[in-house]
Amino acid sequence: MNHFLDIHKTSADDLRAILDQANAMKSARAGLPKGTPDSETPLDGRMVALIFEKPSTRTRVSFDMGVRQLGGQSMVLSGSEMQLGHGETIADTARVLSRYVDMIMIRTFDESILLELAEYADVPVINGLTDRTHPCQIMADIMTYEEHRGAIKGKKVVYLGDGNNVCHSLLHAAGQFEFDVTFAGPAQLEPESEIIGFARGKGSEIVIERDANKAVAGADLIVTDTWLSMHDKQSARERRHNMLRPYQVNKALMETAGEQAVFMHCLPAHREEEVTSEVMDGPQSVVFDEAENRLHAQKAVMRFCLGL
Ligand code: CP
Ligand code: NVA
Repeated sequence: MNHFLDIHKTSADDLRAILDQANAMKSARAGLPKGTPDSETPLDGRMVALIFEKPSTRTRVSFDMGVRQLGGQSMVLSGSEMQLGHGETIADTARVLSRYVDMIMIRTFDESILLELAEYADVPVINGLTDRTHPCQIMADIMTYEEHRGAIKGKKVVYLGDGNNVCHSLLHAAGQFEFDVTFAGPAQLEPESEIIGFARGKGSEIVIERDANKAVAGADLIVTDTWLSMHDKQSARERRHNMLRPYQVNKALMETAGEQAVFMHCLPAHREEEVTSEVMDGPQSVVFDEAENRLHAQKAVMRFCLGL
């Protein structure tokens, strides 16, 4: 049994094997109606709990569909309707759920909740996003980049905007998949130095740049995300928008980057804020392939967790 808590906590070989399996499963079911199971159904007889303490469209639907395609069953639980958060400890919740289900995916706030759940659960736990990281998203992103442009190793990835959970998992992935990252954003919103340190320690070149135009020159992949994450206070909106406006991904910026660059956004996107519609819907954007690949990548993550 394996947890899938963060990209730096799973070995580079296992991460690569997960993506290989995701690609194989994706091609094997090409053309099948979405509700039909895969030809192999390793989750037959297994129950997966999907816990959401924050809203979700992609994570919720892709995990649910993924479990079904693998032959298992899932139950979606809303954090606010559980005893978790109403006085029952996370450790006790983990012990109880482990008696009922075969695997737990959780989207939550503080990373400590995920880690405590994993510590006390007897079944695999998957990180479906915390305030700090979003590893399933970045697995889908690596899969998507490689589908469009080949190996990501040695490539220049530029992340613009808020150094948030998506940016953190991208930096973890830089270390594991051996690519370089330039972060372009304001000093107040830089990614955590510990995470930058992880990537640098693995040999990746991590550059911090204030000038968006300088940052994107020669980029192979351009990534951005919302300027106000689910864990950020609404009252910070205006201040953050003012700081982040110079980092909007628009047509001029994509032209500076060049034709080789693909554009990614984990979605949901705030059109005309962090990215213009012209870029989102333009020829370099692969945002809906990314969304689709959440399904395939997470199916492989679940098989890895259960050793199936
Ligand atoms: N990208 C992503 O995790 O989307 P949801 O919040 O809709 O799950
Ligand atoms: N950074 C965003 C990602 C949403 C999928 C958030 O945490 O709200």
